[in-house]
Amino acid sequence: MQSSKIAGVGYYVPKNVYTNNDLSRFMETNDEWIQERTGIKERRFADRLGETTTTIGVEAAKNAIERAGITAQDVDFIIFATLSPDYYFPGCGVLLQREMKMKEIGALDVRNQCSGFLYALSIADQFIKTGMYKNILVVGSEKHSFAMDFETRSRNVSVIFGDGAGAVVLQPTQKEGQGILSTHLHSDGADAEILAMFYPGAAANKWLPEKPGYPEQELGGLFMTTEQLEGGAALPYMDGPAVFKKAVVKFPEVIREALAANNLKAEDIDLLVPHQANLRISQYVQQLLGLSDDKVFNNIQKYGNTTAASVPIALCEAWEAGKIKEDDLVCLAAFGSGFTWASALIRW
Ligand code: COA
Repeated sequence: MQSSKIAGVGYYVPKNVYTNNDLSRFMETNDEWIQERTGIKERRFADRLGETTTTIGVEAAKNAIERAGITAQDVDFIIFATLSPDYYFPGCGVLLQREMKMKEIGALDVRNQCSGFLYALSIADQFIKTGMYKNILVVGSEKHSFAMDFETRSRNVSVIFGDGAGAVVLQPTQKEGQGILSTHLHSDGADAEILAMFYPGAAANKWLPEKPGYPEQELGGLFMTTEQLEGGAALPYMDGPAVFKKAVVKFPEVIREALAANNLKAEDIDLLVPHQANLRISQYVQQLLGLSDDKVFNNIQKYGNTTAASVPIALCEAWEAGKIKEDDLVCLAAFGSGFTWASALIRW
């Protein structure tokens, strides 16, 4: 069976830079706290009106498509991973298809948060291996800033996340041992509510108080009082310490699983590109695997956590910096809300 290779990588980050000190204008926080806990120095926020998750995804996609030596017309399938879609439905995949004037190809949206890009990559890999498609565009894009609360009550969440997009084009390769060697996907819904945004959602009503006389009381339906909205009912929720504890177990586990599946060892890795959740998490994983600094790529300092976009942005920056060469063994790994976690091993 043929394998799939990454033929082109691209990324785009909005031009608006917000340093930690900039955030301290809006909420009680400071540069020292943020850097010490997360490693983040600054992040990008998209233009409030001019940019959306789709439009920044399009910029990354153009970059990846050009580097793959194809045109948008050659793409035969789209997979778009995001937790911050432009609309509740339809998904961003079809919006990107429209924006890029692509053919009437299939467009799939993936809702796996920080692991979204790796889930999307794994799906694309299967389609290429079976010969169903030849040029699959995989995009991870986020405009977190649209749903973020810049008040002190949400500071544990809002200092961490940033906006951005990354993309790859997957193509078949006949070269023995080249390309995606394996992907590994996992989930455990037991702690689904530990890192979540509940509204709008079909389960959201159960957290809303009685509202006698309204049809929603009997039938359901989306309703929320001004008090609930102002109280933060439609904002992301995160139990940071609980996420941290789980992440430092699952990251190394899924990386080791990938290595074992390919009869490889941690020292065989040329570059580990972890999801940029928190610099402390990446450093812990690096230490556990015994990897030197030059074998782990981090850019959370500049962009914060860009969720589904973080792995492809980091992969692209690493590639642009010449840190990935032909035949290198690249390991991608992610962990996030769900919980979901995943890894991919690639012989470049
Ligand atoms: N600035 C200043 N103080 C802050 C703050 C901020 N941005 N955010 C929280 N605090 C305060 C809290 O209010 C708390 O104060 P208190 O002790 O007076 O109650 C104190 O700092 C400690 O809060 P805590 O949440 O226990 O901090 P922490 O050391 O666990 O760090 C995270 C918080 C979010 C940085 C950390 O838990 C983390 O990184 N978790 C993983 C998150 C993650 O990776 N999410 C994405 C998953 S893909």
